[in-house]
Amino acid sequence: MKKNHVTRRKFIASTTAGAAGAMITPSLPVFGKSPVVGKSELAIKGGAPVRTGDWMKWPVWNPEAEKPMLSLLQSGNWFRGNGDKCNEFEKKYAELIGARRVVATASGTSALDIALHVMGVDAGDEVIVSPYTFIATYNVIFNQKALPVFADTNQETFTIDPFKIEDKINERTSAILPVHICGLPADMNRILAIGKKHNLPVIEDACQAWLAEYDGKMAGTLGDLGCFSFQNSKHIPSGEGGAISGNNDELMDRCFAFHNCGRPHGKSMQGMGSNPVRGSNKRMTELQAVLLLSQMERARGDADKRLENALYLDSKLKEIPGIIPYKLSDGATRSSYHLYPFRYKKEHFDDLPRDKFIAALQAEGIPCGGGYGRQYFDGLMEEAISSRGYKRLFSEERLNRYRDELHQLPENDQLTREAVWFYQYMLLADRSDMDDVVNAIQKVYENRKSLL
Ligand SMILES: Cc1ncc(COP(=O)(O)O)c(C=O)c1O
Repeated sequence: MKKNHVTRRKFIASTTAGAAGAMITPSLPVFGKSPVVGKSELAIKGGAPVRTGDWMKWPVWNPEAEKPMLSLLQSGNWFRGNGDKCNEFEKKYAELIGARRVVATASGTSALDIALHVMGVDAGDEVIVSPYTFIATYNVIFNQKALPVFADTNQETFTIDPFKIEDKINERTSAILPVHICGLPADMNRILAIGKKHNLPVIEDACQAWLAEYDGKMAGTLGDLGCFSFQNSKHIPSGEGGAISGNNDELMDRCFAFHNCGRPHGKSMQGMGSNPVRGSNKRMTELQAVLLLSQMERARGDADKRLENALYLDSKLKEIPGIIPYKLSDGATRSSYHLYPFRYKKEHFDDLPRDKFIAALQAEGIPCGGGYGRQYFDGLMEEAISSRGYKRLFSEERLNRYRDELHQLPENDQLTREAVWFYQYMLLADRSDMDDVVNAIQKVYENRKSLL
């Protein structure tokens, strides 16, 4: 695997020199050329914003896709059975992430559905998962008629707390599903050790973690299977799309078979002739594959640029009272920065609520949001577990205990109150744009009292 172009240590050495003496309190320094900082009136109160320029639009069309896309459209070979673009994409994506094999799928959700089925998750099982994730990660477990059992989040890393997993294991547990949320790799060494000890497969939800790294390997290549999304907002986008990665030929043959209506595939299924196994149609189209092949070309360079800007933000934001940037899990070496997350501690802002902080920052021209809420109280869990099927599969006692357990996620609950996210495309901008971000937060900090 290629070495990082920018290492954390090298980067910090190159930025701290210029930032010497940049302790923020009591007087906050101004970075770059931004004229509107410090005590000047907040934009939300009618003052001039720190930033008026646009941020880049995502996704970015690669003109190199025009010829192959047109010729594919004209050929009529839009289905993977008639073409070779999905095959080519699978090969190139496997090379990019250092996996033995990849199966292209219709979406990240499809990839997760397939992975859970192939790893044997069945009706009435339980799967241990992070609560801090996009709801697709909950849904795919429900799709197997299994129960998503949440192990609390480590607030510092935004990922599943490995020390909370073992308590959740029981005789029905059939898999662990860590999520590399925002692109931050979960603590895989500890999670894999728990999987090994209890003989449980580990499936990585790497849907936000292309080219993130853990212990010298890419996220999505550490567990039994890894799942990726190529939906429109993602770093390698094709509108919709996904992939499963793995290093075990038999498992990958079964993933391929499942995604292709259960038709046997590969050496390990040769003896089955044409007798199908259970499956579905979760195939990627050739059009998606052409787009992905063109989008993949910028992935490595973009990842390096995001890392460089994120490390710069880390070095500046940690100096602002009440702003705590994400921390990498033990063993994690690199995030993909699908989101740049930090925690906002309102007690350092005279108790200014997070929503007001976010609104003030947005008014300064800085896109940001509060991220995931306590989604397990949004109705999804209750709708599933009060269904006829779940009442058949699980005892009333288990379902009631499950309801109670949703109230026992204190770390995650706090994180949903304090998190703030910046978006990946912001990290593709210039250093001076990062200064705008820092200066805008400083301006809100200095003027916090005017918002109370
Ligand atoms: C963490 C996570 N898991 C799963 C998915 C599902 O992927 P898709 O939207 O491609 O189905 C996403 C997509 O946003 C995601 O962010």
